[in-house]
Amino acid sequence: MKGIILAGGAGSRLYPISKAYSKQLMYVYDKPMIYYPLSTLMLGGIREILLITTPEDQASFQRLLGDGSALGLKLEWAVQEEPKGIAQAFTIGAEFIGGEPVCLILGDNLFYGPYNFFREAIRGFGSGALIFGYRVKDPERYGVVEYDASDQVLSIEEKPLKPKSNFAVPGLYIYDGEVSRRAARLQPSPRGELEITDLNRAYLEDGQLRVNRLGRGIAWLDTGTTESLLEANSFIGSIEHRQGLKIGCIEEIAYRMGFLDEAAFKALLETLPRSPYREYLEQIAKDETH
Ligand code: DAU
Repeated sequence: MKGIILAGGAGSRLYPISKAYSKQLMYVYDKPMIYYPLSTLMLGGIREILLITTPEDQASFQRLLGDGSALGLKLEWAVQEEPKGIAQAFTIGAEFIGGEPVCLILGDNLFYGPYNFFREAIRGFGSGALIFGYRVKDPERYGVVEYDASDQVLSIEEKPLKPKSNFAVPGLYIYDGEVSRRAARLQPSPRGELEITDLNRAYLEDGQLRVNRLGRGIAWLDTGTTESLLEANSFIGSIEHRQGLKIGCIEEIAYRMGFLDEAAFKALLETLPRSPYREYLEQIAKDETH
């Protein structure tokens, strides 16, 4: 399966932190934010990825990640001229998608926990759309799904004033090859955006939407506000400090997933500046080979 990371947007809720550069370039604890969604796709086994950024910041993202070959990935690049909605990712990425199934992750969404849910979703994906439902205290900030007693999805609404459930839709979506055509048929919402929730509703109306509930053992964090950004920083910091292992470390994941063999991993480490990050990776190389 191919993947898309959408890392554009105005980041207006984080103004003025987001005035000079994209929020997905900001750090979450010890790495740039974009490392986390990228690592989620990698842990799902996805290696062919399109990164969509603002025109202004594309060069900075490219400085960070290049063409991905050092990580055993194939990265492609596109820009979103203006933040005209999340669903625009599928018209911008139509050629990249090429009528194949694709997974979209938002560049400010962080997942932590057992990744089986994602691998199984990819493995078992047939057609239509597959999204997730995650219990939160403040569903009105998100897309919200309503289930009936037998777990069938009844409705999906974007930031409803009166949410019909506590289940928010995280920024991780899997679609079939029809997605670009469907996205092209969407009309902009009153706020002028191609809404991901409208796309999901179109699949729902055709009986083609599945919503898998994520268990409470999985952490889903977003970083859309200063509070949630601070929470994400301390969450990642706490777990890393406790375990001595890093979350969202793309070089480690490339190695553990077998995208890089031992020689390529060691060669990559040689290119990194002397730093605690490099020392961590050197320790991984040593542990794995002894
Ligand atoms: O985080 C999950 C939520 O993401 C979903 O539950 C909502 O259904 C979905 O609409 C979205 O809500 P947000 O309020 O978080 O959307 P926001 O406009 O903040 O955009 C989310 C990310 O996508 C953000 O990092 C910027 C990026 N983005 C957004 C838009 C609208 C783009 O790159 N381009 C865009 O045009």
